[in-house]
Amino acid sequence: MRKLRDKNVLVTGGAGFIGSNLCEDLLDCGNRVVCFDNFATGKRENVAPFLSHPNFKLIEADIRYGDLFGVETIGLRYFNVFGKRQTPDGAYAAAIPKFIRAFIDHESPVLHGDGKQTRDFTYIANVIQMNHLAATTDNPKAVNKVYNTACGDRTDLLHLIEKIREALVPFDPEIADVPVAFGPSREGDVRDSLADVSRAKELLDYAPTHRLGEGIKEAIAWYWENLKNG
Ligand SMILES: NC(=O)c1ccc[n+]([C@@H]2O[C@H](COP(=O)([O-])OP(=O)(O)OC[C@H]3O[C@@H](n4cnc5c(N)ncnc54)[C@H](O)[C@@H]3O)[C@@H](O)[C@H]2O)c1
Repeated sequence: MRKLRDKNVLVTGGAGFIGSNLCEDLLDCGNRVVCFDNFATGKRENVAPFLSHPNFKLIEADIRYGDLFGVETIGLRYFNVFGKRQTPDGAYAAAIPKFIRAFIDHESPVLHGDGKQTRDFTYIANVIQMNHLAATTDNPKAVNKVYNTACGDRTDLLHLIEKIREALVPFDPEIADVPVAFGPSREGDVRDSLADVSRAKELLDYAPTHRLGEGIKEAIAWYWENLKNG
């Protein structure tokens, strides 16, 4: 895969879930990484492993962008990203870590409505791939465009819950018996969300490596270790 190597890279929000995974991969690829974060929602522990890395610099500050006159840009539109360092806390926390924490605590994960609403769950490795591809493209038709950054698969929440359960049972067999609960539908909730990733495939050579099940399988040990103690 085309990867960004030996470059100076600024990662804004680099102490967050997506940003810290990106910092890690960029360092692994031999880049010099400056992480810019005000720790509004980011965590120090997310970047702690990189602080001693000679190619990593953390700047704790608030970033504001002006207009980027004349600078070529590529926008990435993220769809329901999941993976290690994702937090289940907060009112807007994503479904996957919330469901995992509920199962670990032997509490029923709560589905809003009938659980048949669908999402395009996107594993962090696919997001990192898109960032590399966007940063390294030499295709003039690819710049100054926005790309859906997703897997391109439709999964309903009932199916998601069972995939999560299946992955957690080897850690704790009692999770097999935790019932799912159904709550009222959320007003304004989108029923179905599925990304068209054809533009990214065509112009950036995007080829997602992890479908939902593969991503859960890869990340589940991290979720277990980090969410099992509250
Ligand atoms: N996770 C997803 O599924 C998803 C989906 C769509 C869009 N996004 C967007 O992608 C971005 C990253 O998402 P995430 O899940 O990693 O969230 P996150 O909250 O874990 O990370 C955001 C990071 O940005 C930092 N930050 C916020 N405002 C800042 C400012 N003014 N100056 C400096 N740092 C600042 C936070 O402290 C945090 O470390 C967010 O903009 C989010 O809205 C995420």
